[in-house]
Amino acid sequence: MSNPKSLTTLSFLLSSLLGCAEGAAIDKRIAVPAGYVAAPYYPAPHGGWTSDWSESYRKASLLVQNMTLAEKTNLTSGTGIFMGRCVGNTGSALRAGIPQLCLQDGPLGVRNTDHNTAFPAGITVGATWDKDLMYARGVALGEEFRGKGVNVHLGPSVGPLGRKPRGGRNWEGFGADPVLQAFGGGLSIEGIQSVGVIATIKHLIANEQEMYRMYNLVQPGISSNLDDRTLHELYLWPFAEGVRSGVGAVMIAYNAVNGSACSQNSYLINNILKDELGFQGFVMSDWLAQISGVSSALAGLDMNMPGDIHTIPLATGQSYWMYEYSRAILNGSVPVDRLDDSVTRILAAYFQLGQDQNYPSPNFDTNTQDAEGPLYPGALFSPSGVVNEFVNVQANHAEVAREVARDAITLLKNNGSLPLSTSATFKVFGTDAEKNPDGINACADQGCNKGTLGMGWGSGSARYPYMDSPIDGLKSRGANYQFFNTDSFPSNSNPSANDVALVFVTADSGENYITVENNPGDRTSANLKLWHNGDQLIKDVAAKYSNVIVIVHTVGPILMEEWVDLPSVKAVLFAHLPGQEAGDSLMQVLFGDVSPSGHLPYTIPNSEDDYPDSVSLVGFQFGQPQDTFTEGLYIDYRHFNKAGIKPRYAFGHGLSYTTFSFSNASITPVTPLTAVPPTRPTKGETPAYSTSIPPASESYWPDNFDRIWRYLYSWLDKSDADNAAAAANSSTKYPYPAGYSNEQKPGPPAGGAQGGNPALFDVAYDVEVAISNTGSRAGKAVAQLYVQYPEGIAFDTPVVQLRDFTKTSELRAGESQTVQMRVTRKDLSVWDVVSQNWVVPNVGGDYGIWIGDSSDTLALRCGTAAGRCAGGQTSPV
Ligand code: NOJ
Repeated sequence: MSNPKSLTTLSFLLSSLLGCAEGAAIDKRIAVPAGYVAAPYYPAPHGGWTSDWSESYRKASLLVQNMTLAEKTNLTSGTGIFMGRCVGNTGSALRAGIPQLCLQDGPLGVRNTDHNTAFPAGITVGATWDKDLMYARGVALGEEFRGKGVNVHLGPSVGPLGRKPRGGRNWEGFGADPVLQAFGGGLSIEGIQSVGVIATIKHLIANEQEMYRMYNLVQPGISSNLDDRTLHELYLWPFAEGVRSGVGAVMIAYNAVNGSACSQNSYLINNILKDELGFQGFVMSDWLAQISGVSSALAGLDMNMPGDIHTIPLATGQSYWMYEYSRAILNGSVPVDRLDDSVTRILAAYFQLGQDQNYPSPNFDTNTQDAEGPLYPGALFSPSGVVNEFVNVQANHAEVAREVARDAITLLKNNGSLPLSTSATFKVFGTDAEKNPDGINACADQGCNKGTLGMGWGSGSARYPYMDSPIDGLKSRGANYQFFNTDSFPSNSNPSANDVALVFVTADSGENYITVENNPGDRTSANLKLWHNGDQLIKDVAAKYSNVIVIVHTVGPILMEEWVDLPSVKAVLFAHLPGQEAGDSLMQVLFGDVSPSGHLPYTIPNSEDDYPDSVSLVGFQFGQPQDTFTEGLYIDYRHFNKAGIKPRYAFGHGLSYTTFSFSNASITPVTPLTAVPPTRPTKGETPAYSTSIPPASESYWPDNFDRIWRYLYSWLDKSDADNAAAAANSSTKYPYPAGYSNEQKPGPPAGGAQGGNPALFDVAYDVEVAISNTGSRAGKAVAQLYVQYPEGIAFDTPVVQLRDFTKTSELRAGESQTVQMRVTRKDLSVWDVVSQNWVVPNVGGDYGIWIGDSSDTLALRCGTAAGRCAGGQTSPV
């Protein structure tokens, strides 16, 4: 355990050991502000009731009905932290032909391995606004995870949504808007799962800051308090679309929602996810997020990861489930059907993705880069063997990675300096232009900001197979450049009038178990400023050079006011987080091989004061930190528009080297609207099993079993199992939560299929628009479609909200393309907290369907009442 990676995992372990303990603090819910409720919802809905999963459920149930108790509990839990090759390893049921399942991070590539691709991060993918690339990157990711033998990919991340600009992990997702996140997440899932890998949409839900996320000895995890409408219209939206895409797994978040820890929040898992959204796969905990055994089972959790209790017992290997789950079934604390449902869900996902057919076993080890090592690094004594087989899974994925990196590059300002001529003389400033001199993977889980910033830090990172840095890019173009590898302005750069100055600057963030330059995941110290005195560097360069191009690698919004309007700052590009492909992708844009076509996936403010106070990071509070989402729907551009603040750059903004016009728009009604959607389909049959408690003997240790210390097993000593079985007949019962019932419910009106009532996704209107390249260079345009609700409705709604988007192919000068977008019933609805359904607030009302290439340049309006579209309108924003 001497490599830096191991040190980081060790620090995760230590912080868990020291910081966390089971105890009174987590037994009882702490009061949250009035009005924020996590009502009990029981029992956990059985899976298998949608026709698209019925064959997989049939296969799964044939196995489950013949499995022993210990086999079943073994599949619902990890075997312990560092107890296998993957970041999560379930137990197996070999008699039933089910191997251990390998669960592995992360959203931008296979974490902690070799011969992989370090793809651009989610935020970069969002900035492409390109649905084809979202899908194509998903396929490539899926191929790499499959190639490494990973059954369950721990991505995509669509939560955090980006409510807090300083939040540490926004960059893992696709942007500060539910629809952009939904397409990013949904298309990634479809791509990943197209090659048989189970995708995991995470983190359910409202995990909007890193600090205080976990329950610990003295303090419960932070409670995100949000109202039902905000939950549905913002934070749940991308999860609904992910479920609709058929995602096989959901990871719950560390934090609490409305006072109840997500890992045992029955309202969230049973009601919202499994009943309303009709989720058919399995729900796993985030790592060490489980804080109870029976309660979490009843609340709908299906898999405990990585298996251990996150407190002092972590050191010795103890679990709330595994052997305890066997015991809880034998003594009647957890109804048998709950366990059967969890196991069926896990196996149904396995069959749904075809993993019973020639699926590879893991051939890498997340714990070491060495070829050989301990098979169970978390054990005191572990057998050793070959753990890394160095399988190359890269194929031609660098191409899609480069395309994403390139087409995400967002030109925010250009006073005619771009594109550049290769014959120019360049002076290059900023350490971000070149690889980390200590080595591209010198910092475990990328927990430092040194050299070219290709990704944030934490479990969402991957090792770089190589880093194509901007300097590499300049070199391979044969550019005439001089590089000053420092973040302070050098005295020896000898400015000359013809020089083009390229300044590289960064802003980083990551996951809470690593603190980088005083930022514990969230940008607490850096705030929204550039790192390493980037503002000063730009100003110093701008004072000496007259043609300055600023290139920013960033996790999210930054403040630009100190320099963006300086006359010598001629152009500003956001290259976001490009992964390994930082160099050539940028060169293609700088030198005009292509026009930039990225658009901002969030708003750039003028000052941090532009945001509502409620989206600031929550600092220390006695007791459970309370984070109350008082701004409701008004985050990012929804807030700026409501408050009448013109941001520095609006959500969706992005320039090109050419110009586009949008014309000849038309709107066609498709499905007639009704105030409420048609009645949902009823639930189909779900597998039926015996509900009798199995015999205690099904959980006895096998004879002469050679146990590994700290490894988590599902077997019990005979006496423990027998005592548990005897207790089932005692009069003392486990105190079930208030509102508990074991009667399956028909499901809420808003449900009915994966993603919700299928009628929600009926297309209400088709919209077409012709996009013409009116400039003199080739380029791709992005059309963004925003909905404005009719005036006078009973609901307060944001001025405009993104509902669809599309990107053209590369249009030559003068060329046109007609693009299609659609508006669904859900897009025109609001969540009515009283009827608990989506309602169209004014069926015959005149909805404004606005189309433009940024949220603040909407000049083309289609009205649903008249059924006509017109250009040259005054933008609603
Ligand atoms: C915790 C992170 O929140 C989650 O995203 C990740 O998948 C797990 N750790 C496993 O590393």
